[in-house]
Amino acid sequence: MTATASSTASQEAFLLAFHAGRPAVTAEAFGGGRAPDGRSSYEILCDQVAGSRRVLDLGCGDGLLLELLARTDGRELAGLDLSPDSLALARRRPALSGARLAEGRAQELPFADGSFDACVSHMALMLMGEIDRVAAEVARVLSPGGMLACVLGHGALGGEAYERFIGLLRSTIGELPASRRVPSLGDRRTRRREGLDEILGAVGFTAVEWESVPIDLSGPAEQVWASVSGLYDLGPLDQDTVERLRAAFFAEMREMTAPDGQVPCVFRIHVATARLREDLS
Ligand SMILES: C[S@@+](CC[C@H](N)C(=O)[O-])C[C@H]1O[C@@H](n2cnc3c(N)ncnc32)[C@H](O)[C@@H]1O
Repeated sequence: MTATASSTASQEAFLLAFHAGRPAVTAEAFGGGRAPDGRSSYEILCDQVAGSRRVLDLGCGDGLLLELLARTDGRELAGLDLSPDSLALARRRPALSGARLAEGRAQELPFADGSFDACVSHMALMLMGEIDRVAAEVARVLSPGGMLACVLGHGALGGEAYERFIGLLRSTIGELPASRRVPSLGDRRTRRREGLDEILGAVGFTAVEWESVPIDLSGPAEQVWASVSGLYDLGPLDQDTVERLRAAFFAEMREMTAPDGQVPCVFRIHVATARLREDLS
């Protein structure tokens, strides 16, 4: 096994173990979040592929995005994820009874060439190792002109609860031995438009369109804690450490809570889209 393949394997082992305990964590954290236009980040992606009939969700988790996509009649849907536990939840959604839900790796897609008109991915592409292989696989299973549309996590906006939480998390994690920290996940190039352009351009996509959108996760402190504590970094922490982090977070939130009980919390995402060039086949 090469060094890259072995670090991808340890990242995927971490993701599998994490989602065994929290199979719907992202949908729980972000399903209720809203962009300034009132849409959730899942609805934004759904709208990006409104005209596409055959759609693959890469890293589909518990199937929330696929369920939204299934509201359009006549769609052929497929989802792929590493986690059998998340897929089990997706399979329980009645709207997905006709979808092909596959356990597997985005680096080796179990689908024929040209099977899809669009591929969506919500908060998953930036976690994937060997991203050039993933991109080549997405290009292979899309038909010419097919679209890739993804939501990539960016992080906190200044001065909100999310930023305070990250500050507390950093100091907590800084005290821990390396063995209790999350392995570095994914490929840093996916965090910037130029990086994603480089990855996708190499396998035949047009230039990436990139938009940054604030997602409002504000709510009562308990609700905000439920969202922020879904981060992977909490996975290796023991219960006592999580409790200390929680207590420190609630102490900071007291001064940030508005008279109506709301704690301001905003997370920034990037919405990235690109089309597979038609002149390649
Ligand atoms: C942050 S969760 C997002 C889940 C879902 N898309 C959502 O937003 O609700 C990331 C998902 O990507 C999956 N994933 C990460 N790397 C993967 C890979 N290489 N192949 C397939 N799935 C992967 C994880 O198992 C996890 O379910």
